[in-house]
Amino acid sequence: MKKNLLTTYLLASIFTFAIVPALAQSKTGKALDAKIDAIVRKLTLEEKIGLLHANGIFSTAGVDRLHIPGLMTDDGPLGVREDVKEGWGSANLTTDSATFFPNGSALAATWNPALAYRYGHDLGEEARARKKYIMLTPAFNICRTPLCGRTYEYYSEDPFLNSKLAVQAVKGIQSQDIAACVKHFAVNNQEIERGRVSVNIDERALREIYLPAFKAAVTEGDAWTIMSAYNKIRDVYCSENDYLLNKILKGEWKFKGIVISDWGGTHTTVAAANNGLDLEMGSGPKYDNYFFATKLLDSVKAGKVSMKVIDEKVHRILWVMYHTNMSTNPPAGKINTPEHSKTVYDIASESIVLLKNDKHLLPLNMSSIKSIAVIGDNATHTFHLGGFGAGVKAKYEVTPLAGLQSRLAGKATISYAQGYSGVYQPYRRRGDTSKKADKPDSAMMAKAVAAAKTSDMALLFIGGNRDYESEGRDRKDLSLPFHEQELVDAVTAVNPNTIVIVIGGAPYDIGKIKQHNSTIVWSWYNGSEGGNALADVLLGKVDPSGKLPFTFPVELKDSPAHALDAYPGQNLQVDYKEGILVGYRWFDTKKIAPMYCFGYGLSYTNYAYSGLKTDKNSYKTGETITATIKVKNTGKYSGKETVQLYISKSGSVVERPEKELKSFKKVMIAPGQATTVSLTVPVKDLAYYDIKTSKWVVEPGKYTILAGASSRDIKGTASITVN
Ligand code: BGC
Repeated sequence: MKKNLLTTYLLASIFTFAIVPALAQSKTGKALDAKIDAIVRKLTLEEKIGLLHANGIFSTAGVDRLHIPGLMTDDGPLGVREDVKEGWGSANLTTDSATFFPNGSALAATWNPALAYRYGHDLGEEARARKKYIMLTPAFNICRTPLCGRTYEYYSEDPFLNSKLAVQAVKGIQSQDIAACVKHFAVNNQEIERGRVSVNIDERALREIYLPAFKAAVTEGDAWTIMSAYNKIRDVYCSENDYLLNKILKGEWKFKGIVISDWGGTHTTVAAANNGLDLEMGSGPKYDNYFFATKLLDSVKAGKVSMKVIDEKVHRILWVMYHTNMSTNPPAGKINTPEHSKTVYDIASESIVLLKNDKHLLPLNMSSIKSIAVIGDNATHTFHLGGFGAGVKAKYEVTPLAGLQSRLAGKATISYAQGYSGVYQPYRRRGDTSKKADKPDSAMMAKAVAAAKTSDMALLFIGGNRDYESEGRDRKDLSLPFHEQELVDAVTAVNPNTIVIVIGGAPYDIGKIKQHNSTIVWSWYNGSEGGNALADVLLGKVDPSGKLPFTFPVELKDSPAHALDAYPGQNLQVDYKEGILVGYRWFDTKKIAPMYCFGYGLSYTNYAYSGLKTDKNSYKTGETITATIKVKNTGKYSGKETVQLYISKSGSVVERPEKELKSFKKVMIAPGQATTVSLTVPVKDLAYYDIKTSKWVVEPGKYTILAGASSRDIKGTASITVN
């Protein structure tokens, strides 16, 4: 069933509008459904089956006879992935470079849904330019354990923050007539045994923590496709999970698009077909052997899968095509434009988190600094590729060193010392006897120390990299890799003006650095403009405004899944014993002090909060609470502050977390200026999921509203009553 894709595409683009012009007229509604039904009636069973499975790593076949083109998908989230050939090797093209977008947790750290929209919009433009009609992004599984290898790809530990970002990312992508594929549905929260593990989760945690962002992406963002996760839920694979796919997604949420399997994540024909999967993707070249190829044809003939079920899947696929590769007046598509560079610069510069600035070494005072030692492999490492899984062949990537060199040209001398090697090879080939370095490289260390000693200031870059944090495996622990702690100690000992800049996509144990170092900055796998954005933050051109999207625990065992010995599971069963107490919900409720809390991040300026008020004292269901709080910039720098609003319910009939994020807003405030920030919460958002009635219930009674600069820096509280 393999076809020459280019021919198919060209034929299709010539004939699509000639043969079925009316089809492309209306994007939604009954008229389109009726027209699609008419096409479905014209297709033979074989042609229908041909639409339901891959015919290449990222492609599906079309139907030449009716001029229906195949679909082309591609990864995300970091950008439009380079073209690959069978076997996943590079296609070695010169035309497939793209913009490298900051990773998911970086985007989440901006707390800025408008940037999530721009991410989606620009990625959509690039996808269109590369003729990829389904982008396999955004990915936003909840950060249940900081060890998950894909934490960097995902957003945060909070369903509300995830929802706000996911909806905008989806809308942005789809504004370009490119389908977003939200993934991985659902509870793919660890990489260890992801293809076999069963997640045993209670219904309330599923509904309150793990599903909300998917629900929002579908019901508010109108996502056109969704990817089923590799794992099982309650012993049933997500790709054949009637409850998840048919009942919740297609039933309750009225999802009209395509359920796409994760690559190679289909396990049966009849169960998967009947239980909601629409399209089987994978990367094995024997596409006729797929569960949704000849086996599906045979199952239909044997009466095990009905024609109605097949027709519904074909309908969904054509429906997505009429929104994407067969849409009317499709946008032109653009790639690697200055506008895209500006977007990735803006995301990167709003994502950087200032963790500690006790001696006010930042922003760098360039009137007194003449020499800077830039130290650490991460100052020159690139992050667009690495590890297992999706990367992007970046058109360019500005490293931190390059960013500093361009910003400081002629203003200070910069000396660079690598300090450590960031080479990480977890999967060594058999017979390879090379050992992981068990001590720091003394020659590299000596050069770093010498550079630090003779410079006014040391900027020390450590952290992870894309080989160290990767799809397909989890980290073993939170420790800093590559003997970085020894390097930090040695460099700090000779130069007290050392600024530690950690680059990573997930929490690490930086407890010793927090204790002994005065200045810590957190940055991410921050896209094509990462180095420029970082330099501008260090130099004070941009005030740091990133806030942590997840809790940094003091010790791994403080994190809920680890405290309860509920990770990575036993006998391929993982029990989500912590229930709804994920992330800060756990730390706050159990009164465990984190190293850095959810929502934390400093600025070069200061903000004074005052006068939290709500518009009323009591509310009915159906109403919306409006809370206002005054925020004044009392410092010297112009900055952006994210005001966070949490809700707390004491004396509830069910277990409740100490507090839950229900609203946030990022505002720009000039020095000396004050602004009144208004935050709204629909009363229905106060509901808990009642497992007895399977309904969302807004409990009457008293609630406390808490507004602040982080989950633990609450600046004002107010009480309200719900009747
Ligand atoms: C990942 C997906 C990805 C797919 C195609 C899978 O291994 O889980 O996120 O979209 O591969 O590359």
